[in-house]
Amino acid sequence: MEHIYPVVEKVGRAQKEQFLKQKAKVIWLTGLSGAGKSTIGLALEQELFKRGFFSQILDGDNIRAGINKNLSFTLQDRLENIRRISEVCKLYINSGIITISCFISPTHNDRQMARSIIGQEDFLEVFVNAPIEICEKRDIKGLYAKARRGEIKNFTGIDAPFEIPENPFLVLNTQEKTIDETVNELIDKILPLIQG
Ligand code: ADX
Repeated sequence: MEHIYPVVEKVGRAQKEQFLKQKAKVIWLTGLSGAGKSTIGLALEQELFKRGFFSQILDGDNIRAGINKNLSFTLQDRLENIRRISEVCKLYINSGIITISCFISPTHNDRQMARSIIGQEDFLEVFVNAPIEICEKRDIKGLYAKARRGEIKNFTGIDAPFEIPENPFLVLNTQEKTIDETVNELIDKILPLIQG
């Protein structure tokens, strides 16, 4: 990068974490459309707040309606989507904020890039595991039906890939549990890592 001189903050992450009495992490929820990432993310944010933790959720549909509205769903644009999100996540954790990120992030390549931008230590990969048949049956947004009719191209799980995470921090099998049970399972696992 030529002619770019990033500033160094005078109040660093450690001080901000101390102020917030917590440790910042990125909880990276990955999975198919309709698997339950946003539902779990929103419930997690609420539960963390109740317990005195300060967090922020970032969600695919919201981010794609704003900062990333110029991106499509080609593999290349998804990678750029994830790159920008990862940089945003990094800004949040540098402010001491627990960041809940809900993006399909379908390929190993996407998640590997997120991990390397955010940093191995701070990147908690959580696979929200729901079989495509269940997601398609739920079809809350009606997108699977449209994809089957050929009205949406490059739809994850239909005519675009989803690569199962190989070594995630946690797998949430959503079809076997209620949302509350799932969120509790997630909280139990992250609590030791976010306590200040
Ligand atoms: S990602 O693949 O780049 O990580 P992201 O999580 O931002 O995707 O956006 C996914 C959301 O966009 C889905 O939940 C769905 O509502 C919507 N969407 C629109 N077109 C597609 C598509 N072709 N594939 C998957 N999701 C799509």
